[in-house]
Amino acid sequence: MSYTRADYEQAVAVIRSRTDAQPLIGLVLGSGLGGLADILEDAVKIPYGDIPGWPQSTVHGHSGQLVIGRLEGKLILAQQGRAHFYEGYTMQQVTFPVRIMHLLGIQTLILTNAAGGLNPAYQVGDVMLLQDHINLPGMVGHNPLMGRNDDSLGPRFPGMTQTYDSALRRLARQVAAENAIPMHEGVYIGLSGPAFETPAEVRMLRIWGGNAVGMSTVHEVLVARHAGMRALAFSGITNQAIDTPDSDGITNHEEVLEAGKILVPRLTTLLRGILRTMTL
Ligand code: HPA
Repeated sequence: MSYTRADYEQAVAVIRSRTDAQPLIGLVLGSGLGGLADILEDAVKIPYGDIPGWPQSTVHGHSGQLVIGRLEGKLILAQQGRAHFYEGYTMQQVTFPVRIMHLLGIQTLILTNAAGGLNPAYQVGDVMLLQDHINLPGMVGHNPLMGRNDDSLGPRFPGMTQTYDSALRRLARQVAAENAIPMHEGVYIGLSGPAFETPAEVRMLRIWGGNAVGMSTVHEVLVARHAGMRALAFSGITNQAIDTPDSDGITNHEEVLEAGKILVPRLTTLLRGILRTMTL
């Protein structure tokens, strides 16, 4: 299924009918991290079901609403829960919200996700700032920018060499250091899921240069960059990817949600510090 500009504009009109606020910063909250939106002040909440075309998340740990409010003096539009490709949505559907944010006037997109640590130095509860990504579904034909390009939304062949904004990354490093938040900077490998990786896949992804692995973010970032938005993304490391076949450990969604409890306060501090200092 592909959308036209008219489909996007219908969704934009519904959101505009609920609030006059003009946020310039978008926030996408990943598995177990939705609590971050609860701290927005003077919040207006819009259930995804009220917005035509908006994909609903069917996954436990993702509530489905937009929260528009203020944090550190900046107006934010937060997506509390996201839909994933593995839920059966197309890449165009899972990235629909990013197009809507663009048409609402959002200029900077900050994304979070839960991810498995590939780098053996990463501990559960650590944060990884995305320096770059590898888009495995995109490499096998699941790129959200495929299909007819609407030049009014972005170019046919967008460059991806400065995908994660370097000034915002510098600011994130500074805030992490000031607050003693354990943060690494590395490469996120996006997979389709929903099955977690086999140990052989974990070893392969590590050789390919991945530091963390997950099932979201990369396609959203492609659409954001296509539209000329600045992007900044964080992985919350919720588990260490298992690389030996006879390990007793089993990666599961419960540990992913559990680690969110340590990660929400850390990501909240990072986010507050970044918002306080960033220029729009
Ligand atoms: N693999 C893929 N996605 C994930 C993981 C993982 O280990 N943890 C959280 N999301």
